[in-house]
Formats: sequence, structure tokens, C-alpha cells
Amino acid sequence: MKRAFVTGASGFVGRNLVQRLVQQGFQVRCLVRASSSVRFLRRMGAELCYGSLNDGRCLCDAMAESDWVFHVAGLTQALRRDELMRVNSEGAGQIAMACSRQAQPPVLVLVSSLAAAGPCLRGRVRSEADRPAPISHYGHSKRAGELAVQRYADRVPVTVLRPGVVFGPWGRAMLPAFRAIARLGVHLVPTFAPPPLSMIHAEDLADLLILAAQRGQRLQPIRAEDGNSNHAQGYYFACDDQYPDYAELGRMIGRSVGRSGVFCWHLADPFPWMVAGSIELVSRIRRHAEIVNVDKMREAHASSWASSPLAARQDLDFRPAMGLAERIQATSDWYRQNGWM
Ligand SMILES: NC(=O)c1ccc[n+]([C@@H]2O[C@H](COP(=O)([O-])OP(=O)(O)OC[C@H]3O[C@@H](n4cnc5c(N)ncnc54)[C@H](OP(=O)(O)O)[C@@H]3O)[C@@H](O)[C@H]2O)c1
Repeated sequence: MKRAFVTGASGFVGRNLVQRLVQQGFQVRCLVRASSSVRFLRRMGAELCYGSLNDGRCLCDAMAESDWVFHVAGLTQALRRDELMRVNSEGAGQIAMACSRQAQPPVLVLVSSLAAAGPCLRGRVRSEADRPAPISHYGHSKRAGELAVQRYADRVPVTVLRPGVVFGPWGRAMLPAFRAIARLGVHLVPTFAPPPLSMIHAEDLADLLILAAQRGQRLQPIRAEDGNSNHAQGYYFACDDQYPDYAELGRMIGRSVGRSGVFCWHLADPFPWMVAGSIELVSRIRRHAEIVNVDKMREAHASSWASSPLAARQDLDFRPAMGLAERIQATSDWYRQNGWM
């Protein structure tokens, strides 16, 4: 039986991954914190290891004898840039170092983000071979995490997945949009030219992560003479091949909740920036980071987030199990069945 070690298992993406791994018969061990919500993981029969991303020795022990390590833990929002860097970059480096210290280094699959690659021009689709150009603090921290694990690529087989917007069971980021549309039929769009989005359902992402561990290409080591050159090998975008913008997404959500019409309220600059700035100010006072902030507004104002699913299709034979509309319907049903909406 294959043994998988998962960080970030108590979060949205991690729970979906653990569920899939258990369903497929893997033995799963999870790194959790004292404050993590672990009821679901216990119910799934996963073994829990309490520890920290900063503690190299604890990581080495926790992942011992694992065949695969899925590094999912990460911060998607934070009050400060250095907090993002500490978790998303240094945390990834610690995990890769712990993998390299195993007698038989496991396959490491890093959950990065499309934000690490950055947006592309409208009308274009980003491929893994395009040079990364993140535009947000979050994106820079995820790119730094990719480079941190790539430093161990000569000793550890590493594959990096870059998901676009992830949605599905336990996903909280899109919940406010579902609720506003279901209750009021209104969808706030933070720009007049919303960028096309790359999206993936969390269960499809879980399947793709497992495929990446099984037969993904591995990162090439960075050699001194490469400078900061970009190797595409071992990187995969994780997305559907449909690219709705945020307004189209609102209409899809509307159909999923049984609304024939949705009023898409496009906000004119500088209003969305003022809203994001105000929310960020309150977040700082309350010392609790919110998903709406100035950094996310930078991403919302990009030209396009369309990324190519081709490499994952060609190398891993990955195709989402259902279309985007069906997945949004399933997400809406899950929110309702679980009393979230
Ligand atoms: N959601 C998306 O749309 C999306 C898109 C692209 C990429 N990603 C990436 O996917 C990963 C998971 O995101 P998510 O949406 O599942 O986020 P999430 O629901 O907030 O879960 C984050 C997970 O990371 C753990 N974590 C955070 N900081 C940690 C630390 N310092 N030490 C140990 N564990 C820590 C959390 O543990 P606790 O439960 O203890 O807090 C939680 O299990 C992240 O790396 C993110 O960058 C997400």
C-alpha cells in the first residue's frame, strides 16, 4: 500500500485530496497544528502528526517512509508580505529539505498557484514555458516557494502544480458570491473588464495531484549557469479549458441556484480599490486577514488568467471529470446540502 504524507490537509484543497487518497486505498498521514480542524481527517481514518513547517526535524520524522509528499499547506491571504513569504516560500523549502534527508527521498508534489506564473495578455493562453511574472505579493511568495523546492531537484523528484481558482466542497472563497446571487440575484464584479479565469474543481485537482505523483515529469535542478532561467519541465497548470470571466461566472452560479437572471454590478475604479483598502484596514485592526484585500485586487485587475491545460492532458492524461457548469451546480448543491447556503 502506498503511503502519502499531506500538509495543509485540514484546509479546503487538502481535505479533498485526503478524501481522494483514502478512497483510492492509500495510507495517509497528515501534518496538522494544534489549532487545525481535524474532525474530518479523523473520520477519514488519516493518521495525524502534530508539528510545524518551521521544524525540520519534526518534518523529517513525520514524513518518514512516505512514498509521496503532497505539500498543500499555504497562505492564500495574509496581513503582511513577509508572512506570505515565510509560509509559502520558506515552508516549501523546509519540506523539500526534509524530503532530501530521507534515505529514499519521496516524490514531492507542490501545490503552487497560477498566481506564481502571473497573468497573460488578453486573447492569449499562458503555457508553462512562458517566463513567470507574478503581479501580487501572494504570487511572488508562491513563485519563491517553487524555486525553493527546485533547489532540491537534484536529490528529490519534484513536480509542481499551479491551480487557477479552485472551487468545490469546503471552498469558502466563492461562497459569498453564491450566497449573494442565491439571496439577492446580485453579483459584484470588481472591474469593467474582468479577466478570463482558469478554474478547477477541488475533486479534479485531487485527481490531478495523484496523477502528478504517479507519473508527472520532475523539475530539473537549477544550475549556477542557468541564472534565473525558466525550465517548464515538471510544472503543470491545473485548470479546465473553459475561461469564464467573473461576470460569466456569476451567471453560471445564477443558473446553478435556479435564478434566470443575475444583475452583474461592475464597480468602477477607484471604488473597488477603496473597498479593498478599507477591508484591509479593518483586517489589520482585527488582526485577521480577509480574502478581499489590495493584493487580490491587483490580481482581479489583470488582463487575463487563461492558462493551458495541455501539458497535464498530454503527460498525465488528465481531463476534468465534468464540465464547469456541472461542477458549479454540484458545488451549489453541496453548499445547500451542508447548510452553507
Ligand atoms: N483555493 C484556491 O483557489 C487556490 C488556488 C491556487 C492555489 N492554491 C493553493 O492551495 C493550497 C491550499 O489552499 P486552500 O485553499 O486549501 O487554503 P486553506 O483552506 O486556507 O488551507 C490552508 C492549509 O494550510 C495550512 N497552513 C497554513 N499555514 C500553515 C503553517 N504555517 N503551518 C502549517 N500549516 C499551515 C492550514 O492549516 P490550519 O488548518 O491549521 O490553518 C490549512 O490546512 C495553498 O498552498 C494555496 O496557495 C489555492
